[in-house]
Amino acid sequence: MVNDQTPGTASATPPEITYQDNLDWVDWAALNHDLAVDRFDNGRSNEQLEKSFANSYATCVAWCRGQVIGTARVLSDGVCNAYLIDVWTSSKFRRRGVAREMIRRLSERLDGQHIYLQADPDNVDIYRRLGFKEQPSGMSKIVGRWLTNSNSA
Ligand SMILES: CC(C)(COP(=O)(O)OP(=O)(O)OC[C@H]1O[C@@H](n2cnc3c(N)ncnc32)[C@H](O)[C@@H]1OP(=O)(O)O)[C@@H](O)C(=O)NCCC(=O)NCCS
Repeated sequence: MVNDQTPGTASATPPEITYQDNLDWVDWAALNHDLAVDRFDNGRSNEQLEKSFANSYATCVAWCRGQVIGTARVLSDGVCNAYLIDVWTSSKFRRRGVAREMIRRLSERLDGQHIYLQADPDNVDIYRRLGFKEQPSGMSKIVGRWLTNSNSA
């Protein structure tokens, strides 16, 4: 879905990446498709995906040539605790600082707060590089059945 470079222009200037803190113009079906292609799909419908972003404390969306190529969002009480989630960079745009920039922008809105996240083992080193430290006793549980409740659209 995402064209990184025009064929035959390997030495061309890399396409511009821009960042938005609002969700205007996001095509949720296209984003859900691209998440699935990248195997970063947790089963949300397009409507659930949109609702989970819309209900967040802060969001960051990275764009390139009219396509969403990165996302990150935080849940927060606005005082002391925040949870970073849905950090994704399209596989064609990785290792260019997109996640670093999205997290930097979100962090600007979390001054004085403690940011938590759950990292896959493969990503621990990436988050270390972004200033996070491991918390050895993270715990979680799912209430009822995953993604099944009357409010989740
Ligand atoms: C994890 C992910 C969001 C990183 O996105 P990204 O835009 O490529 O990350 P950045 O380019 O901003 O890199 C951030 C730092 O991590 C490092 N890094 C990124 N990918 C790396 C990799 N595969 N191996 C080692 N280091 C890596 C970068 O070098 C950078 O550190 P530096 O600035 O000190 O050099 C991306 O790989 C992704 O979307 N993965 C699939 C979804 C996922 O697992 N999300 C996280 C859920 S916990």
